[in-house]
Amino acid sequence: MYKTHTCGELRASHAGQTVTLAGWVHNFRTFGGVVFLVLRDRFGISQIVTNPDKYPEAAKAIEGLKNEWVVQVTGSVRMRPTDQFNPKMPTGQIELVAQEVTVLNEAKAMPFVVSRDDEEIDENLRLKYRYLDLRRERMKRNLILRHNVVLFMREFLSERGFIEVETPMMFKTTPEGARDYLVPSRLYPGQFYALPQSPQQLKQLLMVAGVERYFQIARCFRDEDSRGDRQPEFTQLDLEMSFVHRDDVLDLVESLITTMLPEVAPQKKLLRSPWPRLTYTESMERFGTDKPDLRFGMELYNVGEIFNESEFVVFKSALESGGVIKCIVAPGCAGYSRKQLDALTTTAKELGAKGLVTLALTSEGPKGSGAKFINDKELRALTQLLKAANGDLILFVADNAKTVHKVLGVLRNWFRDDLNLVDPDTMAFAFVLDFPMFEWNEEFKKWDAAHHPFTMPRLEHLDRFETDPSTILSEAYDMVCNGYEMASGSIRIHRRDIQSKVFHLLGIEAEEAQVKFGHMLEAFEYGAPPHGGIAPGIDRLVMLLADEPNIREVIAFPKNQAARDVMADAPSFPDERQLKELHIKITE
Ligand code: AMO
Ligand code: AMP
Repeated sequence: MYKTHTCGELRASHAGQTVTLAGWVHNFRTFGGVVFLVLRDRFGISQIVTNPDKYPEAAKAIEGLKNEWVVQVTGSVRMRPTDQFNPKMPTGQIELVAQEVTVLNEAKAMPFVVSRDDEEIDENLRLKYRYLDLRRERMKRNLILRHNVVLFMREFLSERGFIEVETPMMFKTTPEGARDYLVPSRLYPGQFYALPQSPQQLKQLLMVAGVERYFQIARCFRDEDSRGDRQPEFTQLDLEMSFVHRDDVLDLVESLITTMLPEVAPQKKLLRSPWPRLTYTESMERFGTDKPDLRFGMELYNVGEIFNESEFVVFKSALESGGVIKCIVAPGCAGYSRKQLDALTTTAKELGAKGLVTLALTSEGPKGSGAKFINDKELRALTQLLKAANGDLILFVADNAKTVHKVLGVLRNWFRDDLNLVDPDTMAFAFVLDFPMFEWNEEFKKWDAAHHPFTMPRLEHLDRFETDPSTILSEAYDMVCNGYEMASGSIRIHRRDIQSKVFHLLGIEAEEAQVKFGHMLEAFEYGAPPHGGIAPGIDRLVMLLADEPNIREVIAFPKNQAARDVMADAPSFPDERQLKELHIKITE
């Protein structure tokens, strides 16, 4: 080894020993003729000082160093004078007097300062030099946290009889709702593998194979637009169990996360334990979204009853056309300026609302765009229902329920951030249950699977396939936390007749089903056990635990927001020869 100890290891008890450290020059300063060098490796930092009288060569070598050079230093450990103890540094009671210094490698001037963690650096620059960015404390902490999360998951599940099974990356298209990444086959001209959007089919086939308890730290690939919580490739804790009901799966993940938190992120507290379980409908009604942030109130109120005699055309026409009137109360925001209210209205319109009715409760009476349309009786009923008081701002949207929920759900989260309503260290986990099985796709005039086509519909709803598919509920569930969807899963169809019914409704006819999913349908005929599973997104989970604003910060080598790898510069054009071998011609 190039070192006897790590840079984070030395303590007062090592004083008097001669040790060798190796690492990177973190920073250095000169003070009263003595050079103080801070050396860094993955395990920490140590202070090294020179003694030019006793060790002139070592002192000279240190003076010639530059940031991020790789060096090896041998020296003796000594206590610092008590007034120079650094309580912020685990090695802060000691220092090393350099006796021998070897430069192992030099470094060019850095594109950014590695040792300064709080510095704002352009993200594309960080991603271009990701290997330098990862030297920074924040990134290192995230890598380690992620490792601890995955390690915990592996141990927790292994102890409970799960085995980790790897499934292929080159497979066939899996319908998770995104576009596939295709891999051209050289041996079969014109044919393609697809990278899996998730191991969904394979984990179900493992259940047919009798594995019973499977998990995998699984890489998934989806060609969809990148966002803060989305990447083209990401990682799931994918798991599947046989002979289970919904609550068995939910109890398992709840227990996994609940026991993991104090181990990997002790500063995080659970808002509630056991976790709340809401139905999809309840979540939409109360929070306007199926991934509610339960750390704060500001719930949506349906005020249609109060305004059922209103002549205000906005309210009246919404009710007449079968829509709803709902509102949220922004506490203490009655003083919002015209400009602020206009900005909120613009946001509402961008989200699809026709407008936003505002009502500010002030000591001089109601103000805002709704003031002149709302009478005293309505106002009294309103403040009573909403428990709103002077100083509050009420925001109404009148439209079809879908639009109202979307708009108010987003505004609710906007106020959360603007008014600082939540504690980032609180984790409000919950399960959302009873999702609809199908969603109507207006663009293509067809039914889509709300989760995926292998999800079990409620058995008692099977007769609605012919009559009213929109009311069929499924055995799907989501795990949510702080406004993010953290995991999705379901009890699966294990009977071929039900699977065929679902394919039929989705417009996947027998022939197409055979081509796309023949292997699944056939497998289900060889004694498929009842089974179900779930897949928490590891990137999102680690992002929340690390208090990071997006998942790129917890992925070692992520794509940027435009889905490019700016370090390697990918995607890139292949050689003509490669294309030829693959029988591919670029037409534009
Ligand atoms: P689903 O498609 O809902 O379910 O994905 C499960 C979880 O994976 C995470 N996730 C993502 N994370 C980062 N970037 C993305 N592009 C991305 N897409 C999804 C989310 C999400 O909750 N096979 C099913 C699971 C099952 O039924 O067992 C599935 O993949 O955290
Ligand atoms: P208008 O009659 O279009 O001038 O709208 C009067 C007020 O109601 C304005 O503040 C609009 O932003 C708001 N508004 C219009 N339509 C809706 C709607 N469907 N829901 C909520 N507010 C609306």
